[in-house]
Amino acid sequence: MIKEIATKAFGDQKPGTSGLRKKVGVFQQPHYVENFIQAIFDSLEGFAGATFVIGGDGRYFNREAIQTAIRIAAANGVGRVIVGQGGILSTPAASNLIRKYKTFGGIIFSASHNPGGPHGDFGVKYNIGNGGPAPEGVTDVIHAKTQSIALYRIADTADIDLDSIGTVAVEGMTVEIVDPVADYRLLMETLFDFDRLRALFASGFRMRFDAMHAVTGPYAKAILEGALGAPAGTVVNGTPLPDFGGHHPDPNLVHAKELYDLMMSPDAPDFGAASDGDGDRNLIIGRGIFVTPSDSLAALAANATLAPGYASGLAGIARSMPTSAAADRVADKLGIGRYETPTGWKFFGNLLDAGLATICGEESAGTGSNHVREKDGLWAVLLWLNILAVRRDSVLAIMQDHWRTYGRNFYARHDYEEIDADAARGLMQHLRDQLPNLPGRRLRNARVASADDFAYDDPVDRSRSTGQGIRILFEDGSRIVFRLSGTGTAGATLRLYIERYEPDTARHGMATGDALADLILIAGDLSELAARTGRDAPSVIT
Ligand code: G1P
Ligand code: ZN
Repeated sequence: MIKEIATKAFGDQKPGTSGLRKKVGVFQQPHYVENFIQAIFDSLEGFAGATFVIGGDGRYFNREAIQTAIRIAAANGVGRVIVGQGGILSTPAASNLIRKYKTFGGIIFSASHNPGGPHGDFGVKYNIGNGGPAPEGVTDVIHAKTQSIALYRIADTADIDLDSIGTVAVEGMTVEIVDPVADYRLLMETLFDFDRLRALFASGFRMRFDAMHAVTGPYAKAILEGALGAPAGTVVNGTPLPDFGGHHPDPNLVHAKELYDLMMSPDAPDFGAASDGDGDRNLIIGRGIFVTPSDSLAALAANATLAPGYASGLAGIARSMPTSAAADRVADKLGIGRYETPTGWKFFGNLLDAGLATICGEESAGTGSNHVREKDGLWAVLLWLNILAVRRDSVLAIMQDHWRTYGRNFYARHDYEEIDADAARGLMQHLRDQLPNLPGRRLRNARVASADDFAYDDPVDRSRSTGQGIRILFEDGSRIVFRLSGTGTAGATLRLYIERYEPDTARHGMATGDALADLILIAGDLSELAARTGRDAPSVIT
């Protein structure tokens, strides 16, 4: 039976660039999930009888939310839903299913790298038919619908068994419970040389993949230990847990410290990697070397043709503005297009759809390609492995060789979290006011070439995005970038990105902190950082 339940708007259900993200307790309020999912269907047209993908990263409340989504979909006239077994689908795997089965769209439950458990975060995101996150035009309509909602439709049925693969019916809608890994593994087999990867592991190559008790565990076990023959135990923390084992599923040097320490120790295996809560971010560490996401993007792009999926070359490389310019140097050498977009994966979607870019990346550990429309953590790991399998060099040797060829872009991001929002806005305005006077000025040993508040003209849909961050570019190729986070939850988060370009191979062994010291002082002076924020050090350095 289908019921229509009278409801009213919840105050703030505005989805951001990564969907609607709130504390679990907020989502547990009666009617809250129902309202938002009904608002998604209310915002769509022409989906009667169509197929949707539904899955999530396995965090606390995932199963409950999926049962609700199935009931609401059935009551709204959806024809079929494809659901990951156990409610599990990594974000890139969901993107793949949407594309492969040409579904109308998909609903993904995840709060990415945020902590889980009853006191952690939860989230829901709608992806459109190209497999990518809904663009702003769509999320604006969803938001409007959440504000005017008066009723939701729901099938009055018992929970379905999410754990048994197969097909069941709910009020005339087909629910197909699928293996969450199978189609994703097939996609990876089309991109990478699995025979060669098997030979790599058979030759004694060793790696550790830290799944952080999040969604990539089953994917990494099936592909690395299953299909590729890596020894059992290669994947650690491989069982998705509702609270991620009490850890923060964020693959950075703070939260994946154990992996980092192992990779810096005498017992380090050849390769270390990790992924986040929903499987779209990646961390790459070689024996004795952490590869910054910006460098990883550049190295992957430079070597991509070694993998079968990219053997015919890349159409172009796209990076977000704060990501280091290392990838630009690769694009220039290859004579292919390079694109600098505002922060956020959604800006890559148009470039990928239009065939302008093949590989994309962000400094925040997101890397991906045109195989899906989300960033993809395990994809980045497999492309690295494919490159290592062909070159039979260490990660360190590959990066040193890369820097010899292209020069090295030393890079760091300093986050000032939970600072006063007015102080943050004042600091950005203070910088903006100085922009006209900066070009030509000598600051310590560097001369400013240009300075602006970054604006982006989308070459595909011609839309213009302004106010995307203050960029100060120096004549030697170094850069300082300031921007305010769009995802922080408390106060404001100021991000300072510092990059120094160093062509001289003799200096490539410097410590990053030393290489960037002067630029950090310049950034502090120009922005009056300490005085305006009251902080004498960043909260996090990545
Ligand atoms: C952060 C990252 C950005 C990423 C986004 C969503 O956004 O910096 O690269 O796309 O999370 O994962 P920010 O908080 O900087 O706005
Ligand atoms: Zn994520």
